[in-house]
Amino acid sequence: MELQEILRFADEVVFSNTGNHLDDLQQAILRETFQGRKYAKIAEDRNCSEGYVRGAASELWKILSEVLGEDVSKVNVRGILERAKFYNSYSSAIEKNYGTVNNVNICQEKTRSHSPTPQPQETPNQPQMDLGDAPEIFRFYDRTTELATLENWILQQNCRLIALLGITGIGKTTLALRLIEQIKTNFHYIIYRSLHFSPTLNTILTNLLQIFPQQADIPQNTEAQISQLLNYLRQHRCLIIFDDLQMLFASGQLAGQYKTGYEDYQLFFKLIAEVNHNSCFLLNSWEKPREIAKLESSNNYVQTFVLGSLGLAGKEILKYRKLSDEESWENLIHTYEGNPLWLELTASTIQELFGGSVANFLQCDAPILDESLQAQLDQQFQRLTQQELAVMIQLAKESEPVALPDILKIVGLSVSDLVNVMRSLKMRLLLEVEEESKTTYFSLNHVLKEYVKNRYYPKVK
Ligand SMILES: Nc1ncnc2c1ncn2[C@@H]1O[C@H](COP(=O)(O)OP(=O)(O)O)[C@@H](O)[C@H]1O
Ligand SMILES: [Mg+2]
Repeated sequence: MELQEILRFADEVVFSNTGNHLDDLQQAILRETFQGRKYAKIAEDRNCSEGYVRGAASELWKILSEVLGEDVSKVNVRGILERAKFYNSYSSAIEKNYGTVNNVNICQEKTRSHSPTPQPQETPNQPQMDLGDAPEIFRFYDRTTELATLENWILQQNCRLIALLGITGIGKTTLALRLIEQIKTNFHYIIYRSLHFSPTLNTILTNLLQIFPQQADIPQNTEAQISQLLNYLRQHRCLIIFDDLQMLFASGQLAGQYKTGYEDYQLFFKLIAEVNHNSCFLLNSWEKPREIAKLESSNNYVQTFVLGSLGLAGKEILKYRKLSDEESWENLIHTYEGNPLWLELTASTIQELFGGSVANFLQCDAPILDESLQAQLDQQFQRLTQQELAVMIQLAKESEPVALPDILKIVGLSVSDLVNVMRSLKMRLLLEVEEESKTTYFSLNHVLKEYVKNRYYPKVK
């Protein structure tokens, strides 16, 4: 957002609430704070003392805190003003288009209190379904507790934003599509979109808006598109699934950071979580989006579900593949972390090369990772930073879980770099984490360990 635009907005907001425009010094403090200048420099340019500027700045943050309804400081002022400006224009747009908001609102709390609380509407038994390019599900085993939890979050707790996270192949897409079958009669619209080809927010919103009966032309501007979609989400109860959200995140950077040109998704999801409506977005991803991590601590309408092993239901996969040695199946499921895709790929290897005998296969040095399984993991590992990779390579060498200080001794990173790396690897769901006697220990599961050894050991020798 342009600096001048934000300054003008700040002045308008202060004027409409206090009857006074920002004076020269207040404008200078805002402008120069945005540009990262220190109070001492502002004072020097204006020939006054640093203490004087500091006092004026503190008074300004107080005024802005009051009019914007949030604690404003030098550090967060720009972010808060940008967001307030956005909310302001979006509620003005709704007011202009649909006349549903009373006054121009300037902050999210006010926006919320002015907007009509959506009344649970009667939902048709047959929702409008647009599942786009969703894959067809042929077989589905168990996931009873996972389905119950998600159903509860969506239907009872009216969650607006849910992140369904898990390593590739664990069954996110399958589970989301099965969930639709289970709860579809509660919705007016059910929409599934894969973000595999990284559509921009503008593209995906244009696409979504076409699904609803047109009350107005679809705007070209993203801000106006968001306001139109929010209005639909209020009028109709919708379940919208965005699959493969990780495709919007940058490679070679710590987890959950949007690629250049995709940052507006962050604000979009924040609005979905914070603005009053009765619909739900389910986001499937390998990586936890950073805004979800921030929002879930303070917003009851945001939840994260980390999908784990399919458990003993994995036996159904082996049975369907007609493998033998049923007494060894549990061991095989454990070795492949109950990941249905890994089990399917391994079942093919067992059929092709081990005459279908799970016991014979396990006698070899399992886990054996066939090329297609490794290719699946390549996609995830190609995104890691060099520092993340160094930690993964080190963890693959450890026979026991290790604590942070031990990793620090070996990998030669600064403490803060290592903390960021470990957080990021956790957000990518690549670490096994356990706590014992107030110490956190980290390790890799069998498959990831084997993968790292296969792919990276020769390079580090
Ligand atoms: N609950 C399940 N029952 C049977 N098969 C499953 C189940 N979950 C996943 N699968 C199978 O595992 C494979 C990977 O599942 P998928 O949903 O595509 O994983 P993800 O979206 O997490 O990468 C698919 O072939 C799918 O059919
Ligand atoms: Mg998937």
